[in-house]
Amino acid sequence: MPAPLRAVCPPLWCGLMPPLKSPASALAAFVPSAAVERIAKTSLRPSFAPIPGLISLAAGEPDFDTPLEIVEAAVAALHAGHTHYTDPEGDAQLRDAIAEVVAQTAGAACTRNQILVTHGASAGLAAAIAAIVNPGDRVVIPEPTYSLYADLVQLAGGVPVFVALRPDFHLDLDALEPALAGARLLVLCSPGNPTGVVYRADEWAQLGELVAHSPAYVLSDEAYHSLVYGGTPFVSGLQIDALRERLIYAQTFSKKYAMTGWRLGYLAGPAPIVKAAGLIHRTFNGTNNAFVQRAGLTALRDGSRDAHAWMEQFAARRAFALERLRAIAGVSADPPEGGFYVFARYAAPIPSAELAARMIAGGVAVRAGREYGPSGEGHFRISFATSIANLAAGIGRISDVFATLPAGV
Ligand SMILES: Cc1ncc(COP(=O)(O)O)c(C=O)c1O
Repeated sequence: MPAPLRAVCPPLWCGLMPPLKSPASALAAFVPSAAVERIAKTSLRPSFAPIPGLISLAAGEPDFDTPLEIVEAAVAALHAGHTHYTDPEGDAQLRDAIAEVVAQTAGAACTRNQILVTHGASAGLAAAIAAIVNPGDRVVIPEPTYSLYADLVQLAGGVPVFVALRPDFHLDLDALEPALAGARLLVLCSPGNPTGVVYRADEWAQLGELVAHSPAYVLSDEAYHSLVYGGTPFVSGLQIDALRERLIYAQTFSKKYAMTGWRLGYLAGPAPIVKAAGLIHRTFNGTNNAFVQRAGLTALRDGSRDAHAWMEQFAARRAFALERLRAIAGVSADPPEGGFYVFARYAAPIPSAELAARMIAGGVAVRAGREYGPSGEGHFRISFATSIANLAAGIGRISDVFATLPAGV
């Protein structure tokens, strides 16, 4: 029987290794990489530790469970032996099925080599940005918008260039034109997180014209595409002919199918860009979960039934949240056209980070508007992807906190 490892190792290692410093001094000497320092210095993304009794209206995930047929497909896939590495670009059948969906949305052909399966949209966005952006490149980010984009640009060594959206949170094309000159990438989010704005067809068309006269590629994050209210027609960036050769589309199974914990998303775009992003994604993440990708096939085939059924509830929650928020003195909010957030304005003269801290102390978690860019100041974001009872209690607490604040202008 071989000797136990711990008895053999010390004499072998002793002569080969320099004397070990104590763990305390090794830790004291640790300096994080420049990338970590860049993100730490600029990121406004909060991390939440659970607090007993806190009502959270801060999270960005549906409160519904993943539809049973998707769960059963994952279990069946495990039993069928889908427990091995897959193709680094993603399960071939899943990529074919996604290519069909993308082709239908785009109204143009799409093939497997234009699809990369990713660890949720987060890893897709990271791979796309790292594949396109070189250190020092300017990346135009209309804001307020999802705060991950700027952090990913910082990680890549790029320079985020924030361009304020118009007061109605639609694109300010006059401001975008000069910003795009010499830019490497433009990052868009429609339906908007946190704004809830859905870009109109004419807006996309004008943007297509603008971008065609610039060197910029376009990353279009459409994570909330299935959640659009009130008859607003949803237009995908995939449909814009002028953008066809330079648009990378990021999508996720997280929101539509309530699959946040599964980590499944994809990129679609011109094959050379998708291939470059694939190299980054493989380097960072390895291959995707085999059985999760099989369940993804079922989600594409059968998951839309539940997604449609949930829409009714989302619409009711949206109306309820708006009514209750607007009843608070000094708070105003426009109805979101898509997604499941209300981005509310407030008049009280305190920064949004302080407001969010006061809300936590008052027993309710919301997100500070400033997290989403400079123009987000004076706003806070709530998610209505939770029960009416939770919304009633949470917005009640928000109202109590505002009652303690100076009124503002
Ligand atoms: C606009 C947007 N894109 C992407 C993501 C990330 O999605 P995933 O869970 O697929 O990483 C989120 C999550 O909140 C989001 O709001």
